[in-house]
Amino acid sequence: MADAQSQDREITRRRFCNGLLLTSTGLLFAATTPVSEAAARQEPLLAYPPLRIEGAERLMPGSSLYFVYPRATDPAILVRAEDGQYYAYSQRCSHMGCSIYFERASRRLECPCHKGAFNTQTGFVLNGPPLRPLDLIVLQIRAGGEVWAVGRGVGSTDRKCQRPASAEAVSERVAMRQ
Ligand code: FES
Repeated sequence: MADAQSQDREITRRRFCNGLLLTSTGLLFAATTPVSEAAARQEPLLAYPPLRIEGAERLMPGSSLYFVYPRATDPAILVRAEDGQYYAYSQRCSHMGCSIYFERASRRLECPCHKGAFNTQTGFVLNGPPLRPLDLIVLQIRAGGEVWAVGRGVGSTDRKCQRPASAEAVSERVAMRQ
């Protein structure tokens, strides 16, 4: 039984690594860029109706823009890294939901509420009280350099995705609860 379960997990990982996105309905379709990041995060992904991110193809490396996905009430952020690659996440901080922003100087996604910071290329926590990565938005690059959002992570619970809590972060969390 345990063998069958670990085999299933391995197959799922291989599917992601082959650039396929498993949707909630069991459909598979080709996806591009951050699937490898999703695989690294071992995060379940849900497909949503594709949405073209207006203006993304004109975004300068080292900058960002805001959009909404998958619903009009779901704020999201798209970052174009210095190497031209695109990364997108829910704009809601995984700690308490404040709006994160891209800090160009540090090249990190930062949260103003409790100094949370996330890696732009993975969404992993770099600093502060958040315990899990940002929710990933899956992108597709289409003809003409158009950037489309096509799915979204549903939040990772994989402890390997989290940095070990520093004594400072733990005491900050305790102080916040008081
Ligand atoms: S809400 Fe972002 S660090 Fe607390």
